[in-house]
Amino acid sequence: MENLIAGREESRRPDKRNPGSLAFATQSVHGGNEADGTAAIRTPIVMGNSYRLPEDPSDMDWSGTEVLAYTRNSGLNQIGLQKKLAALEGGEEAAVLASGVAAIHSVFFTFLNSGDHVVVGDVTYEAVWKLLTDLLPRKYGIEASFVDLTDMDAVRAAIRPNTQLIHAEAIANPTTKVVDISALADLAHSAGALLSIDSTFTPPPLFRPLDHGADLVIHSLTKFINGHGDSMGGAVIGASSLISRLKSEAMVDVGGTISPFNAWLIMRGSVTLPLRLRQHMDSAMAVARFIEQDPRIAYVRYPGLRSHPQHDLALRQFGARGFGAMMAFAVAGDTDTQNRFVSRLRVITSAFSLGHDESLIVHVGGDARGGSESYPEEFRRFGHLRLSVGLEDPADLIADISCALDETFAG
Ligand SMILES: Cc1ncc(COP(=O)(O)O)c(C=O)c1O
Repeated sequence: MENLIAGREESRRPDKRNPGSLAFATQSVHGGNEADGTAAIRTPIVMGNSYRLPEDPSDMDWSGTEVLAYTRNSGLNQIGLQKKLAALEGGEEAAVLASGVAAIHSVFFTFLNSGDHVVVGDVTYEAVWKLLTDLLPRKYGIEASFVDLTDMDAVRAAIRPNTQLIHAEAIANPTTKVVDISALADLAHSAGALLSIDSTFTPPPLFRPLDHGADLVIHSLTKFINGHGDSMGGAVIGASSLISRLKSEAMVDVGGTISPFNAWLIMRGSVTLPLRLRQHMDSAMAVARFIEQDPRIAYVRYPGLRSHPQHDLALRQFGARGFGAMMAFAVAGDTDTQNRFVSRLRVITSAFSLGHDESLIVHVGGDARGGSESYPEEFRRFGHLRLSVGLEDPADLIADISCALDETFAG
């Protein structure tokens, strides 16, 4: 306490009106809380899709995103969330969209033209795989190389004269492969390309890719940033020059706008992000350690474990802040065994999403999705269970897993 008081006397003057003056937790509480003309101390939900125009609207930019006019371009709740996310990620500006996939698509759509090339991780979220193996090549002639982004020689070799973008996940879905963002940024920039990082598994304050040289950060807000499993959204954060281009090319004229209600829910959920994240990560470490020592488990990948192939990089890159709350593992057995285990869980829920307050697990078969040939051998042999560790008491989670294992292997 004394230190805190002494620190305050000597240094900054925190002020809600100036996000740069605030520590992360304070920004999480106050960021983007836009005045709405009433005395409400929290921005209300403004569901109106239009705002009253000035007396003479004749020279207004119908595609503008700065003035409140039409909710596809910008709305009060959208603007507040954008300001908050820009502050939390340390970027100049943010765009918020209807889902994480809309955010990923907005980056590809804005910064890749017909004939351009993108280098992308060989382990990546499924929609990225589909967009870059099929939809964008077929429709727009965009070329993509899927590369092991932990191998810088392979990345260097994959870069072509028409490479405009390197796209990676800081911790990749689903294998939890960790990539070196500073090294990728150097390679991208020396080739005149942008680096976009999907940081959905590593929300701030755990990691801020822009501080490590990335040009664009992407989030599925549906996940940790909202945190309560009750809304969908996506965001892209970066320099104003990039984000204003993205807003005009991929938001206003494509239309994947977030609803004011979802923006409001995400705004509310994000208030507790730093507190939640700390608990998510502490519990994930405890669960991973328990799983790793159980002989009925075939393998576990969690970046916080020494056994993880990129553990040293994760330590260097994420520092003492933690390793996220996502892990992949399998029970020693076939597909039926994995399903039997999941069906015996009584606290952890089987569902697709992640980053929620409740723990979620999903069983993915060994050959169930594109890209699986680049998965580690054990993933292909056993399939994997993707576990998102939630906010329940970690002792309950460990007991749930332990009892489900007993029941799976009973008799
Ligand atoms: C890493 C990652 N990026 C993007 C997405 C897509 O987000 P959304 O479901 O909000 O479209 C997901 C969804 O699981 C994800 O895991």
